[in-house]
Amino acid sequence: MSSPLQQLTARFAETLAPLFAVPLPQPLVVPATNPKFGDFQCNIALPLAKTLGQPPRTIAAQIVERLELGDLCQAPEIAGPGFINLTLKPEYLAAQLRDLQGDPRLGVEPSPNRRRVIVDFSSPNIAKEMHVGHLRSTIIGDCLARTLEFLGYDVLRLNHVGDWGTQFGMLITYLREVHPQALTEADSLDLGDLVSFYRQAKARFDADAEFKEISRQAVVALQGGDPESLNAWRLLCDQSRREFARIYEQLDICLTERGESFYNPFLEGVIERLNQAGLLTEDQGAQCVFLDGFNNKDGAPLPLIVQKSDGGYNYATTDLAALKYRFTEDQVDAIFYVTDSGQANHFAQVFQVALRAGLIPPEKTVLHVPFGLVKGEDGKKLKTRSGDTIRLQDLLDEAVARARQDLESRLESEGRTESADFINEVAQRVGLGAVKYADLSQNRLSDYCFSYDKMLALQGNTAPYLLYAYARIQSIAREGDLDLEQRQIGALELAEPSELTLAKALLALPDVLAEVETSLLPNRLCDYLYELSKHFNRFYEDCPILKAPEPQRGSRLLLCDLCARTLKLGLGLLGIAVLERM
Ligand code: ARG
Repeated sequence: MSSPLQQLTARFAETLAPLFAVPLPQPLVVPATNPKFGDFQCNIALPLAKTLGQPPRTIAAQIVERLELGDLCQAPEIAGPGFINLTLKPEYLAAQLRDLQGDPRLGVEPSPNRRRVIVDFSSPNIAKEMHVGHLRSTIIGDCLARTLEFLGYDVLRLNHVGDWGTQFGMLITYLREVHPQALTEADSLDLGDLVSFYRQAKARFDADAEFKEISRQAVVALQGGDPESLNAWRLLCDQSRREFARIYEQLDICLTERGESFYNPFLEGVIERLNQAGLLTEDQGAQCVFLDGFNNKDGAPLPLIVQKSDGGYNYATTDLAALKYRFTEDQVDAIFYVTDSGQANHFAQVFQVALRAGLIPPEKTVLHVPFGLVKGEDGKKLKTRSGDTIRLQDLLDEAVARARQDLESRLESEGRTESADFINEVAQRVGLGAVKYADLSQNRLSDYCFSYDKMLALQGNTAPYLLYAYARIQSIAREGDLDLEQRQIGALELAEPSELTLAKALLALPDVLAEVETSLLPNRLCDYLYELSKHFNRFYEDCPILKAPEPQRGSRLLLCDLCARTLKLGLGLLGIAVLERM
């Protein structure tokens, strides 16, 4: 089953292709910009008029004359210079909704563009704590993966963990000095300590030339496979990994870890490949590829260093090896990298070099999916009061604690008593849902301002508002003692404006997901769900439901059921679980 927009588009394409002997402007049909113009518009008469050298209204009239839309729309109207306005018939809407009742996918068909893709996201660094930047990548990447999976893509969710950098050289060197047990015994530090050791090690590394040199040698030893160093490295990684796992579990996020170290055996081969392609230049002992279109301050071409003068490899080399591996071994068609916008140059450079070296086969896609910074309410980078970066675990705990406070005071004001389990469950889902939704509902390209108060508000474009709309529908079902999903409704009657608006919104889900698929912008889905909830709330105010006579009662209960299922599905794609009661 397809959406009204998809059906109209197909109908236009069929009719117009034989009518005009020129390529048709796209898209053929778009949602109306204003409800007073109807539901959809076809605006192609204007560009066609130019191509064909005829007045646009004449073309529009030709189109309208040929179109057979009587089963879908009222008679099309030609407006202004030649826009064709279309309004869907209530009977058609009713028939479409009836078809949705038994469809668990709510009319969304697998995408014709589905293929095998990698979403590379989250990707924190070992021994460093996960921070809010990683949180954005984790939340956005997970939402994109869920959406693509739902659309029938085969998605490999990869966690490109930073587990192989110079940080290990200095960390191992430092720990050997101050806490040698950490290198031989599991769990002799907690991650908090590990992070502060990392900071101290970094300070030493920057200040002390001898320490720096020993650290460098430690990296070489590790990368060369020295068993003692490898063992220490493994212990440090395990420890970080467990901390990360706890956060993923709390956020209900699945990822396959394949860190930088995985590609270590392939780094030499990459250099070899670049060499064969004639791309390598030695510059002050380092192996470089000079880039097109990237210049340094003096206007000279910028090199991408792929092997340092000490023989070590870096972040870019690893990404080149990963690209090769992913296309040849994983055999994916596309790779999406979800990181902050600050890495745009890194990816542009890596992609350029990979293309020139033939590491990206033709017809394959690589795409950086960037996002802006997370800022505090003061508009500056998010920090704790003491000026440290906020730990992700603390941030999540705080959101849950505040959701619990809000809930407890609401329960008190409503004179309700609820079990501790209920309170825990609601606080968790609302708190974590609010954090995710606040991030996803912003255009990912903008910086976003982190505010517990805003994200937890019951009004506005927030998770609690949407969760509340869902819970409200469930309470209608409980009040009427109905299992909404089990009901089969025969006669449907839609007459009230708020019913019609809600019906149209319910039928637009496939269009919205198609848009998220191409733009990779989760906020499109959030906006849709928010509008849908508002339409539902208006309908709920305007129309009696349980007390209405048949066939309205049945029609309205179907609207309720479809709305609840759409919210559940949509929130699910955002990684947010609904609540039957709040
Ligand atoms: N570990 C990196 C960071 O924290 C992100 C890795 C992104 N993925 C990639 N293939 N480079 O900035």
